[in-house]
Amino acid sequence: MKKPMLDVRWLANVERSQLDRVLLEYELISRSFVPWLLHVMANAKDEAVRQLVMPNLLEENGEFGKNNSHHALYLKMLDSLGLKYGTFRHANFTIDAEEAFRTIFRGEDTYRSLCVLGPAIEAISSDFLGPMYDRVKQYYGDAPRHMIYFPLHLCEMEDEHAKCIEQALSILEAKNPRLAKNRSKFVKEGIKIFQEFWNNMRIEVKG
Ligand SMILES: [Fe+2]
Repeated sequence: MKKPMLDVRWLANVERSQLDRVLLEYELISRSFVPWLLHVMANAKDEAVRQLVMPNLLEENGEFGKNNSHHALYLKMLDSLGLKYGTFRHANFTIDAEEAFRTIFRGEDTYRSLCVLGPAIEAISSDFLGPMYDRVKQYYGDAPRHMIYFPLHLCEMEDEHAKCIEQALSILEAKNPRLAKNRSKFVKEGIKIFQEFWNNMRIEVKG
């Protein structure tokens, strides 16, 4: 199956105030990764699956006294840009997208969750994080204080996570070959949630 892509071309030409809104809305998605991963792990009956998701969870959650969670790094970036997330109210479309993902991850169909988490989230997040980072550099400069969150997510690490999830999917498929026939349906389901989120963001931000 070829790598799916999101259509977020509009992110190439957003104004600064529009970028700010995008960054604030995305904060909820960034915050949700740890709970999503925990749901997937809690429901996974297969030990190998839990072990393959674990590195992703550790990266995302950080370790006490050692390193920040990715969400903490995201907030540090918003702080450095002067964006006030404490009083920001997320739009319904953002809340809906988070809930739609969470509903899948809370379900007991681990194969479906992994299809959404891997090929539909980890493997394609660079489609929007790349242009978001380009706009941050355009409007705020490339100072080190903005540097951490985006480069961290645009490096090979996300690919590594996608590969681990791919391996988990293969393990489940080897045990039950019938699962594979639903793979593209589940991946499309995840992509659809994200594409709708970004479409709604475009309407909200660009009018
Ligand atoms: Fe992350």
